[in-house]
Amino acid sequence: MKIAVIGGTGLIGSQVVKLLGAAGHEAVPHSPSTGLDLLSGKGLAEALAGAAVVVNLTNSPTFDDASPAFFRTTMDNLLAAARDAGAGHAVILSNVGADQVPDLVYYRAKVLQEDILKAGPVPYSIVRATQFFEFVDAVLSWTADGNTVRLPPTPVQPMAAADVAQAVADVSGGAPLRGTRNVAGPEVFTLDELGRITLAARGDHRTVVTDPGAGMFAAVPGDALLAPDDAVIAKTTYREWLAR
Ligand SMILES: NC(=O)c1ccc[n+]([C@@H]2O[C@H](COP(=O)([O-])OP(=O)(O)OC[C@H]3O[C@@H](n4cnc5c(N)ncnc54)[C@H](OP(=O)(O)O)[C@@H]3O)[C@@H](O)[C@H]2O)c1
Repeated sequence: MKIAVIGGTGLIGSQVVKLLGAAGHEAVPHSPSTGLDLLSGKGLAEALAGAAVVVNLTNSPTFDDASPAFFRTTMDNLLAAARDAGAGHAVILSNVGADQVPDLVYYRAKVLQEDILKAGPVPYSIVRATQFFEFVDAVLSWTADGNTVRLPPTPVQPMAAADVAQAVADVSGGAPLRGTRNVAGPEVFTLDELGRITLAARGDHRTVVTDPGAGMFAAVPGDALLAPDDAVIAKTTYREWLAR
């Protein structure tokens, strides 16, 4: 099948393009660097011509109050173009527990993205993943100074981007789920514990201070980000990934 991968140059998108290609599909990456801007719609009709499946792996440039407008506009543009092109399947990547974290605007924006897709004219699939291992360094950097990293004890169940990409590729190559597939990592950590493991593995001597009010993930209630009962559990552990 011809599969258009919007955001196909990103962390997940670039791996999805390779996996779909290896599975025999004609997977074509699209992004601003290839001439497609999903916000303005520039290059979109050309990108989707002849595509049976459209996979949207773009991300908002910021996680703040601008993120709902990004996901609204890009999804509206994508679905109108996918309908016009006759695509039979639209896929997005969202976040496990997004609907359970109403105090975070980015998570509300991801739920908005899901809702637009569900209400749209194209048969759809949603893959919801937990936090990527590759995202941990960014999370640490938000609340770090020269000597300490402040992190809340929020429970998380992170996973390797490669495992996320495999899940997205599997769903994209199949029939529309008309629903959601949850995927998650094999282990639960608290975020402060994950920070300590990460710094120790890197020989970084900064101290992780447990601070229930630190950073974006302080707003997460209870076990909202952990795998729901129906989740597919990926194999790669955090320590295996760190050792690579
Ligand atoms: N981080 C996590 O832990 C996590 C967990 C679950 C789900 N997710 C979801 O996973 C998705 C993909 O994340 P990622 O980390 O792979 O993102 P990423 O590495 O930042 O890649 C984003 C991609 O989108 C493209 N893009 C950005 N703005 C665009 C626009 N206006 N038009 C067309 N393409 C545009 C980028 O192109 P350029 O490179 O040219 O800018 C890039 O190819 C996101 O939607 C995120 O919500 C993330």
